[in-house]
Amino acid sequence: MAEQPQAIYLKDYQVPAYLIDTTELRFELADDQTLVHSRLKVRRNPEATSAQAPLELHGHESLELCRLAIDGRELDAADYHREGELLTLARVPERFELSCTTRIHPQTNTALEGLYLSGGMYCTQCEAEGFRRITFYMDRPDVMSVFTTTVEADQARFPVLLSNGNPVASGEKEGRHWVTWEDPFPKPAYLFALVAGDLQHIERPYKTMSGRDVSLRIFAEPKDLDKLDHAMDSLINAMRWDEEVYGREYDLDIYMIVAVDFFNMGAMENKGLNIFNTSCVLASPQTTTDAAYLRVEGVVAHEYFHNWSGNRVTCRDWFQLSLKEGFTVFRDAEFSADINSRTVKRIEDVTLLRTAQFAEDSGPMAHPVRPASYIEISNFYTLTVYEKGAEVVRMLHTLLGAELFRRGSDLYFERHDGQAVTTDDFVCAMEAASGRDLTQFRRWYSQAGTPTLRMADDYDAATQQYRLHVEQQLPQTPDQVEKLPLHIPLALGLLDASGADLALAEGATTQVLELTEQRQTFVFEQIPVHPVPSLLRGFSAPVRLQYPYSRDALVFLMSHDSDGFNRWDAGQRLAVEVIQGLMAQYRQGEALQLDGALVDAYAAVLDDESLDPAMVAKVLSLPSEAYLSELADCIDVEAIHLARQFARTELARLLEAPLQRRYEALAPTGVYAPDADQVARRSLRNLCLSYLVALEAPAHLARARAQYDSCDNMTERQAALSLIAHSGFETDAAAVLEDFYQRYQSETLVVNQWLAVQACDPKPGALTRIKALMQHAAFDLRNPNKVRSLISTFCGINAVNFHDGSGAGYAFLADRIIEMNRLNPQVASRLLTPLTRWRKYDAARQALMQAQLRRILDSGELSRDVYEVVSKSLG
Ligand code: TRP
Ligand code: ZN
Repeated sequence: MAEQPQAIYLKDYQVPAYLIDTTELRFELADDQTLVHSRLKVRRNPEATSAQAPLELHGHESLELCRLAIDGRELDAADYHREGELLTLARVPERFELSCTTRIHPQTNTALEGLYLSGGMYCTQCEAEGFRRITFYMDRPDVMSVFTTTVEADQARFPVLLSNGNPVASGEKEGRHWVTWEDPFPKPAYLFALVAGDLQHIERPYKTMSGRDVSLRIFAEPKDLDKLDHAMDSLINAMRWDEEVYGREYDLDIYMIVAVDFFNMGAMENKGLNIFNTSCVLASPQTTTDAAYLRVEGVVAHEYFHNWSGNRVTCRDWFQLSLKEGFTVFRDAEFSADINSRTVKRIEDVTLLRTAQFAEDSGPMAHPVRPASYIEISNFYTLTVYEKGAEVVRMLHTLLGAELFRRGSDLYFERHDGQAVTTDDFVCAMEAASGRDLTQFRRWYSQAGTPTLRMADDYDAATQQYRLHVEQQLPQTPDQVEKLPLHIPLALGLLDASGADLALAEGATTQVLELTEQRQTFVFEQIPVHPVPSLLRGFSAPVRLQYPYSRDALVFLMSHDSDGFNRWDAGQRLAVEVIQGLMAQYRQGEALQLDGALVDAYAAVLDDESLDPAMVAKVLSLPSEAYLSELADCIDVEAIHLARQFARTELARLLEAPLQRRYEALAPTGVYAPDADQVARRSLRNLCLSYLVALEAPAHLARARAQYDSCDNMTERQAALSLIAHSGFETDAAAVLEDFYQRYQSETLVVNQWLAVQACDPKPGALTRIKALMQHAAFDLRNPNKVRSLISTFCGINAVNFHDGSGAGYAFLADRIIEMNRLNPQVASRLLTPLTRWRKYDAARQALMQAQLRRILDSGELSRDVYEVVSKSLG
């Protein structure tokens, strides 16, 4: 890039000068090129400020303009001005028809934005600004148009031609055929989609709550046709759920999902024609783990829910991205919680938030849920916009209660159907429906950074008063120094000495306090005994909680708290403290000594057969290295790894008998099904096995190998594979990896898991193994799933190897980023994440990481994506 890319600001937003009422597209797909013909009915926007405004069309530099005409009059280069991504027409009539032809090259499109080839099939990805790589257009979400699309291609090689809406005409001529699709709902260009390929599909009928018939179809390559049933079941469950919980039904005659292998993200909610990464739609017992089954269910639901939260009501501009993403993540999380275990789902979501989103929020890319500026919008599809955005919606749900929240969402959908709106419109609807003043609550959208709640308490037996003192601390973030207090729902309960909940306001056992000031004291009257507080139940706000819990209190909460989430969290807090204690011993050169309190607590949970095995597995899972790193001021990679490994091995040694007993008792009965009961049993059984194998005893290794050999499903096989592969038994590790590859080499997604298992092997020498795997036939730098499996897994999870003191891991990653910057800027930019965290490491590593960031910056022409993250990281 000759000039440095410029930032775009929310405060500069202006309504579009023109509107596009209808959009007619015709695609001629051919081997070396695609011609795109468009006919747009354009008129001046009556709400635009200036009557003389020029028409500004977006078009990527790669677009070849073949023809441009207004009302049939051909234009030449003197009639318009093309510069960067803009094509400007200074004078246009008040109302006119614009015709345009562009030539594009999907065959060489490795960025996977716009129209590209995945395997041999054509597909599109237009969010956020990919449509401008197809034709010149007002590529902004507040320009909504009715689309009619004709796709023409070779009939034998591309028998299936799809676009948004309903097919209305088709024909054939000399080996080529065409289909015309009509989508009656006005939509922004980012929701446009096209697919052409040799695909097969499964189909199911669905009747909506008002009695309309819909045909549900899921398309894939013929070899994957047997892996679509779970996605179909998930779709039907999601459709029913949205009718029941939000009163929303589907609105077209057809709903299509297409599975593609080359995809930058998880999936995309194009109107009536979702396009999915194969990793988020295909599932079969032999190739898919339980975790992946749940992910498919969640992503299918997420994209379906966008039909209302995103498509029918869309975003005014990309600063409002969380309007659709935060709300839709909240909706899919509630769906999954209703269908599966609510507590386990919450634990998983909070774990992601507290490790990755908190880390993002304290790094150089920190931004509010509604960012105020960006250089490249693709960089803002973040954990903050998605996950923290969902937490903000969840807090509204907590503050208003389910009933008023539903009234608010009804009002929002009714008021804004067919419009492009803002997060503030969403809050306004919630305010209007509930009668509550959410002025202060709005700060959650504009202030970046994770608040810390510092709490202390005291109890007066004479007056029976229990007092809770809370202080909110708001961190500084880039560009935001001054912060104002937030409106925070704090759910809590108070436990008596027997572990029972005390009755609080109106007899409830959980009460929601509303924090609004920087310092506040809450007084609870008629509290008969000094209670143990259970704070922030269900993780009622995305904050860090500081309260001086004793280890005894944590053990007590672990076994008594009526809030399942806090029961688990008490165990995590205890384990964090214990591991941090071991880290201190390690740094002082002392012999490591595991606190018996943790062992006793784990023994009690392991023995409790009345608990849901899935919960037992969660409670007995030690906090991850990533979470321990997030909690550290300065990350000591070795100390974290060694202390955690020591705790794991010690727990295994002291609990070997009960672990072995539960492992045996949880042996599978009957054939595999990904149902809640079986998933729970497998999760605990595999956790027991992981402790046992940590003992590095031949008997336990044999146990893992027996499971690997005899099981009938990928959940058990993959768990055994990674335990053996990461063990010190190198011959067995090599043998099992080879066996796995031989079994599954034709299953792309399974081979990707095989790459990921090797990428996170903590044994020394990982980088050499990664480099060798990059040369393997199973690897392909152009396929984002493979890059994520091998490179992102190594750099993001295998901390001891990636952060090797030599800096070789950093140099390796920088090389990959420089390479990917040319091929696929979105993926390249995401690869940068581990390097953006350099401030959290020791001085030597800081210098090494900064040097690599600078090397990337100086490496030549950087995409906007990579430039933004590198420059902000160094800045
Ligand atoms: N809107 C999609 C979702 O969250 C996200 C998405 C899919 C995306 N593909 C993308 C975002 C490519 C940016 C670029 O459901
Ligand atoms: Zn989404």
